[in-house]
Amino acid sequence: LALAAFAVAQARQISHLPDAPAMCPLEMRKNTRWGVATASYQVEGGWNLGGRTPSVWDTFSHAGFIKNNDTGDVACDMYHKYPQDFKLMRELGIKHYRFSFSWNRILPQGGKGTPVNPEGIAFYNSLINEMIANNIRPYATIFHWDLPQVLQDKYQGLIGEEFIADFVNYANVLFENFGDRIRDWMTFNEPWVTCVLQYGQGVFAPGIPMGDEGMYKCGHNLLRAHAKTYQLYHKVPQAKLDNVTFADAARGKVGIALNIEYLEPLTEAKEDVAAANYGLEKNLGWFADPLFFGDYPASLKSCAKDVLPSFTAEESKLLKGSLDFLGINFYTGKFAKGSATDKCSVETREQDVNGKDIGPLAESSWLRVVPWSFYKLLKYVQSRYDPKQIIITENGVSAPKEDSMSVQQAIRDDFRVNYYKGYLDYLCKAISEGVKVNTYFAWSFMDNFEWREGYSQRFGINHVDFDSPELTRTTKDSGKFLSKHFFRVGRGG
Ligand code: NOJ
Repeated sequence: LALAAFAVAQARQISHLPDAPAMCPLEMRKNTRWGVATASYQVEGGWNLGGRTPSVWDTFSHAGFIKNNDTGDVACDMYHKYPQDFKLMRELGIKHYRFSFSWNRILPQGGKGTPVNPEGIAFYNSLINEMIANNIRPYATIFHWDLPQVLQDKYQGLIGEEFIADFVNYANVLFENFGDRIRDWMTFNEPWVTCVLQYGQGVFAPGIPMGDEGMYKCGHNLLRAHAKTYQLYHKVPQAKLDNVTFADAARGKVGIALNIEYLEPLTEAKEDVAAANYGLEKNLGWFADPLFFGDYPASLKSCAKDVLPSFTAEESKLLKGSLDFLGINFYTGKFAKGSATDKCSVETREQDVNGKDIGPLAESSWLRVVPWSFYKLLKYVQSRYDPKQIIITENGVSAPKEDSMSVQQAIRDDFRVNYYKGYLDYLCKAISEGVKVNTYFAWSFMDNFEWREGYSQRFGINHVDFDSPELTRTTKDSGKFLSKHFFRVGRGG
């Protein structure tokens, strides 16, 4: 009887949730993997525990560059709370989880030849084992922006050529220690953000603007580090990998998570169509073209000729095809306006020619809800790159004013429910037309440290009460919606 009463209460609780998106038939939802994502600095906390040294984000946040003076010192305290978090995932039917490693927890001195931290290895071992014990498959991001501060100090992080060998060494440590249980690896999260916001503009940690030249140098090092890591993982025999030895991890897949905003031409005018196209090449093609075709897009080479480095023939060869899947972080779309006289100019707009918004604004100033843009971007990616496999490594939204709401108000997140319903509808349409997405991660499992915005912008499908000593997690309607129609019905394994 108690069980029946519980079931009725459950049903009543979720009865106000919308149906599954119309273009997502049950069969497709069953055949696809649906999961959730986070990243180390945003959720872990434990910033000075277990032998961890500071990353550039510790330094940056401690220097007061974050809204409300927030830091990631404690964050969601997943460092201690992961057992209960995996239990909650399990309850929601979540069978796939994307997370990232903290480089400075694994290698406190960062570089090649420096000691591996046994406490860091032990922490991730129990995290991964706990995940697997809950029937959750791990997907690991090797680098999600939290560079060891020592490597920033030593050679300016991704700007330095030395970064490549140090990154490959770090990846090797992860492969050797966790490669027996992790089959899905992403080398970098959002190279565009790393190189443009972290290094080019310096608005993200480490906070030192390096201009266009620094930005492209960063991209160049990152791409070459990715290719070497890919080669290392797959043990290409002719590899000359600066003495790194990756012995016997089980064979899996290595990819990368690229972010991109879709660009729709503002009008049918030739220059607007060209601008939308160039914008996609400049932002996505900058990384995707070398990975798929072995070189930067011709348009970028011509527009950025004074600052864009070039690959040697050997590097091109190594880069071409150096991914087993393409990860895409997708949130929004904008209009693009070109110039009749300057083919390198792309102006982005959030209103159409009649002044109508492209979609409702989220809490994040860069994020408008534009479900159809997801479909158009996916069709573009499939036709330009023809990837063997696409993983949506992130998709989600910050609901307006959620941070100022009570827990009870915040968990009624219609805004986010509608976002997911709309975006997933268009994702399913793309899948039904042959776009090869087989795995999808919602960003994020829970509210967390949103970089410069601190805790003021919430992307979680679970609410975190940062004012409560327990940092209490409460599932939002969006979490229940995804659980009911996607996590529970989707495939595991
Ligand atoms: C992209 C990043 O990978 C993630 O760290 C961030 O929190 C979300 N997008 C939302 O901005």
